[in-house]
Amino acid sequence: MNNLVVLDNPLVKRDITYLRNRETEEYQFRLALRRISFALSIEIAKTFNMKEIEVETPLEKTKGHKINHQIVMVPVLRAGLSMVSAFIEMIPDAKMGHIGLQRDEKTLKPVEYYFKVPSDLHLSKVIVLDPMLATGGSASAALDFLKEKDANDLSLACLISAPEGVEKIYKDHPDVKIYTAVLDRQLNEIGFILPGLGDAGDRTFGTL
Ligand code: PRP
Repeated sequence: MNNLVVLDNPLVKRDITYLRNRETEEYQFRLALRRISFALSIEIAKTFNMKEIEVETPLEKTKGHKINHQIVMVPVLRAGLSMVSAFIEMIPDAKMGHIGLQRDEKTLKPVEYYFKVPSDLHLSKVIVLDPMLATGGSASAALDFLKEKDANDLSLACLISAPEGVEKIYKDHPDVKIYTAVLDRQLNEIGFILPGLGDAGDRTFGTL
């Protein structure tokens, strides 16, 4: 699927293994998730438009570069928050939006409980952060909401994705590229990714 970029990096593969391991403690889980988020931000940055600028070193003038558009990060609450610190460290002048979605455990449909985003989304490169792409319902709904607010340059950063979710995003939002650290095998009957890593939100925030 050409809407998908899967990271191919030894450090990311090692960290995914930490995340999968049920014995991994909360603080190690958070750190590995943060390291993978750095890698995702670096991969997504390859699509940024850059402008050449002049910079003066202590020795002479030379060419430099700056990002030529506004970046807006939008974590999907709550698990998306776990990716924010790495992204904000790499792109400190980014603006932030928040979308609160809770997947109904019976219907697996996302229910919105919070939505606040910066204005001028139509001029921004918008990056949606959510560690898990399972059925794709939450990410697709988040993308719908952002498009309603005129976002037109969207990408999705995930830690772990199921083929079902990737397909749904491709069907609902063919213009959106998904960046994921790993593509897993399938969903089980209750919408969990297999082999997966459990629930990233619960494991990050200790709410198991
Ligand atoms: C999880 C996850 C995604 C969503 C993925 O969130 O963080 O947002 O489920 O599932 P989907 O692709 O089938 O929609 P959850 O609803 O468990 O909320 P949480 O972030 O508060 O843990």
